[in-house]
Amino acid sequence: MRIGLLTGGGDCPGLNAVIRAVARTALERGDEVVGVLHGWRGMVEGQMRPLAPQDVTGLLPRGGTILRTSRTNPYEIEGGVERVLGHLDGLDALVAIGGEDTLGVAARLHAEHDAPMVGVPKTIDNDLRGTDYTFGFDTAVTIATEAIDRLHSTAESHDRVMVCEVMGRHTGWIAVMAGMAGGADVILIPELPLTVEHCCGLIRNRHAKGKDFSIVVVSEGYELRYESGASGGMVASGDLDAFGHARLGGVGSALASEIEGRTGFETRVTTLGHIQRGGSPTARDRVLATRFGLRAAELVRDGEWGMMAALRGDEIVAVPLAEAVAGLKLVPRELYDRAAAFFG
Ligand code: F6P
Repeated sequence: MRIGLLTGGGDCPGLNAVIRAVARTALERGDEVVGVLHGWRGMVEGQMRPLAPQDVTGLLPRGGTILRTSRTNPYEIEGGVERVLGHLDGLDALVAIGGEDTLGVAARLHAEHDAPMVGVPKTIDNDLRGTDYTFGFDTAVTIATEAIDRLHSTAESHDRVMVCEVMGRHTGWIAVMAGMAGGADVILIPELPLTVEHCCGLIRNRHAKGKDFSIVVVSEGYELRYESGASGGMVASGDLDAFGHARLGGVGSALASEIEGRTGFETRVTTLGHIQRGGSPTARDRVLATRFGLRAAELVRDGEWGMMAALRGDEIVAVPLAEAVAGLKLVPRELYDRAAAFFG
């Protein structure tokens, strides 16, 4: 068998661990493995290179992706899908490692052209359906938690409010988990948005109880909301990407000036940005990525096209790609309420 492997979308700690697991399993059973470079761009342009055993050693602790990545959408390029199908002719299977966009393309190619696709769920945002967790998320949460821990001591020394903006796009998974782990005093997420007035009230209450500092964690996709019903809108910059996504970031600064203006407490903002995506994966992400990769190699061996490796409880199972990309997995109210038990 000739098996292609690609990584698409934003990079994510654990991508190399998946590549290692799929490639080593396939090579050991005598298959040929081909790395497709730069995600779907490589499938459009035919950028591929064979992967030998020496290419897939020493990868477990390495961040990023040895195959590079892009946000190319072949459906947005004239003749793009035909070129992808042409290059797919030279492969018996393609393992796509990605989030909703990358796997959305794989699901569509499978549904519309019977393409031999297998998916592996990646994203620091953990917003993909069909799986309880994606790899990369634990690393992002660990990095954000460490940042919140560090913000505590400087916030306390200066009697300040510290706003920490984290990634997550349109879901608040990173904010809720890191906020809970780091003991945030307020957490603001897109799915269950508190108003600015409510947020300031919580901070005032806390200070009235004798605490002189507060930590506020805000997800980049949160829109400032007011009791009047008005909304500050999503804070974004630049052009939309090929999948129609805006580049988020900046809501932390807008929120910090609202807090300082309304409460009078000195406020600073820290935006964690791509720090959350860089560097070595946690042990948990290395193990999850490895288990996903091993399952993906089995799906290929068994010809289970259109399926994705997924985590359900502590089991690695196979779910249809179509299920995974049918919509975003939102933070459930129950989890947010647990975190909110410590607000203010
Ligand atoms: O989807 C992962 C993610 O890191 C989001 O949390 C964030 O909004 C986006 O990618 C940033 O994308 P880029 O790396 O293209 O700036």
